[in-house]
Amino acid sequence: MTTSDNRLIHVSEDLVFNLSNQHISYIFRVSPEGILEHLHFGGAIAPNRGLSAGPRRVFRCTVLEFQGIKNYQLDDTPQEYPLFGTSDTRQPALHVLNSAGNTVNTLLYKSHQITLSKADLPNLPSARGGASSTLAVTLEDAVSQLEVTLSYTIYEHHNVVTRSANVRNVGTKAVRLDNAMSSCIDLPQGDYELLHLRGSWSREFEAERMDVPQGRFVIESARGTSSNVHNPFMALMSKGAGEQHGAVIGTALMYSGNFAITVEKNEFESVRVTAGINPFNFQWLLEPDEVFSTPEAVHVFSHQGLDAMSQTWHRFVNDKISPPQFVDQARPTYLNSWEAAYFDVTHDVVLGLADKAKALGVEMLVLDDGWFVGRNNDTSSLGDWVTDETKFPQGIEETARQVKAKGLKFGLWFEPEMVNKESQLYVAHPDWLIQVPDRVLSTGRNQHTLDLSRQDVVEYLFERIDSFLSTGLIDYVKWDMNRVMSEVGSAALSADRQLEVPHRYMLGLYSLVERITSKYPNVLFENCASGGNRFDLGLLRFMSQGWVSDMCDPIGRLSIIGGASHLFPLSTLASYIGPVPNHQNGRVTSVKMRKEVGFFASARGLSLNEADLDANQDEIIDAIHLYKATAQDMVEGSFHRIKNTGNEVCWQLNSRCGQRVYVGYYHVLSAPNQPFRRTKLVNLDADSSYRLQCRGMDFGGDSLMTLGFDLPYIDAMRIQADTDYSNHMDQGDFVSRLLVFEKN
Ligand code: DGJ
Repeated sequence: MTTSDNRLIHVSEDLVFNLSNQHISYIFRVSPEGILEHLHFGGAIAPNRGLSAGPRRVFRCTVLEFQGIKNYQLDDTPQEYPLFGTSDTRQPALHVLNSAGNTVNTLLYKSHQITLSKADLPNLPSARGGASSTLAVTLEDAVSQLEVTLSYTIYEHHNVVTRSANVRNVGTKAVRLDNAMSSCIDLPQGDYELLHLRGSWSREFEAERMDVPQGRFVIESARGTSSNVHNPFMALMSKGAGEQHGAVIGTALMYSGNFAITVEKNEFESVRVTAGINPFNFQWLLEPDEVFSTPEAVHVFSHQGLDAMSQTWHRFVNDKISPPQFVDQARPTYLNSWEAAYFDVTHDVVLGLADKAKALGVEMLVLDDGWFVGRNNDTSSLGDWVTDETKFPQGIEETARQVKAKGLKFGLWFEPEMVNKESQLYVAHPDWLIQVPDRVLSTGRNQHTLDLSRQDVVEYLFERIDSFLSTGLIDYVKWDMNRVMSEVGSAALSADRQLEVPHRYMLGLYSLVERITSKYPNVLFENCASGGNRFDLGLLRFMSQGWVSDMCDPIGRLSIIGGASHLFPLSTLASYIGPVPNHQNGRVTSVKMRKEVGFFASARGLSLNEADLDANQDEIIDAIHLYKATAQDMVEGSFHRIKNTGNEVCWQLNSRCGQRVYVGYYHVLSAPNQPFRRTKLVNLDADSSYRLQCRGMDFGGDSLMTLGFDLPYIDAMRIQADTDYSNHMDQGDFVSRLLVFEKN
């Protein structure tokens, strides 16, 4: 046995692994039997001073003793990578059909290694290293001839631990993986609540909070995308935790495909959290000497509530996940052609929109769907990434050149992963679809998914997209993806590998986006999937911003932005001022309200038809002016959820230097005779005073944080003619105020 030490990872002689920075510790040990036992994930605990609590052993009726060892019950022992089949009856981290044809496997400690920093995962997105250390612990099953290496990275300046696993077949016969989780954390017995982000199209990221029940609660996707139904994120918290208090463990998976995050509480109140590829409908044949690598799971710890958890995520995403070249760059305001012209885009239409954009002060024109050969509606042409010369006779290049000559940036829409059967691509390659033989395929928006598990498909898409980007005229790409997978199979794989297709698809997709985005580091990529149908940390590693939802109605957006902000910083979010009545929910709201909700995003734009642009020209010019003036603060600032009653929402953003504080106050439904409302601001300098710009009044930072701030009053009736209404909300439903404080 050896003792090893570095700044962040300490290993004692009796193999207690302590991964600690100034604020958090992740601790586990090798039990005398060789089982990796979890000891702690939470606040910092120095190594070698004795742990005051840990796994205990007692006699329990009907509970099995592992390998007959007296009172050693894995069913009630916190572990790092548990298996089913011996004496733990809970959901395992790994489930393998071994070469003997059974699923009884046991992993025991073999060795460990510590390295400075952190290597990238092979073929999968992972957080960047830097000031960090990585511990790799190898476990083995000598009977099944399996080796599993668990990797843990702890960061010096982030309260974050990342985890992943490599499963290696060291035998001479193939084995089959039925489940290979990225991470498992067995928490101490107790009462917890969980928060997750659920939804559907146009109502993504709704935060739902509940008690952790006894049994198993799973959020998952089997749709081929991480999905808008459940985002691969969950927070486990001490009961009653709030925005500013309580212990919270946040878990997110850096993966864009089928995933599962499971919380299981058993009869002894042990709580197990696993995160990884969804084991449902998944199998992977592992030949001798082959290694299967799981995606990366990211865990954060906060002992100061959900706000501190979100600040940790936001800083970590900006520092270690988002493409570094854009992360703190103000994003251009943009006008998208979709609502203005739908499929009827032509050179002249685009140039006309460019003039309009210029007049409004907008910085980029985005040519959305409809520009490629034969694409006049949504029934055809996806896959044929060649300019439609009837619409753009001199090619997209010439249109882009002329748009840019007006002093605008130029963006282009692609939906690379899709194909319509009515396309030249399908005629040439009917076997390039995700499909199974002898079945009529389901459609989504008349389209089918290309089989990105195939290298030839990936090569074709790379060549097509590259042919446009290599002109050097495209500043921005909107990467769309508008259906989920069905009848999943690949013509290129044998029958015993068909359940590998969804994960192989993700590997193909990541290799494609990695190649393209690294060849064009100065092109800004926006990830879009019918809104937030694939908005996750995996694609964020390659694409700086994401279209969080097709819901542009500001009321609809409140819960979407509030929910998404648990994990995602504003630097990753895109928003539009969209049309009214809103196309998704029919609601009519003012430009002011649309502007003031859309304000809290980094990528801000317009998707309006020309009549709307003309009718609201002055207000839109004002909005664009505001967006440009605050663009740097959006990418760099810290965002806080400071009030949410359902009917009232308040958000705060502090500029990085702390000089400016923006407070958005949103009121949904009006009512007479309302109570006075107050909210406490956060994260200010207590010793400074702040001037509320619209009223020229000064308030102490200490007072704003401890006494709180009187919110503009909702006076639905406005009866007194002589009242100064400047500190009141507008009348009626769906009203907002954006307040700006400047530090004196
Ligand atoms: C779905 C997106 O959400 C829209 O903004 C637009 O790009 C269409 N696809 C184009 O088909």
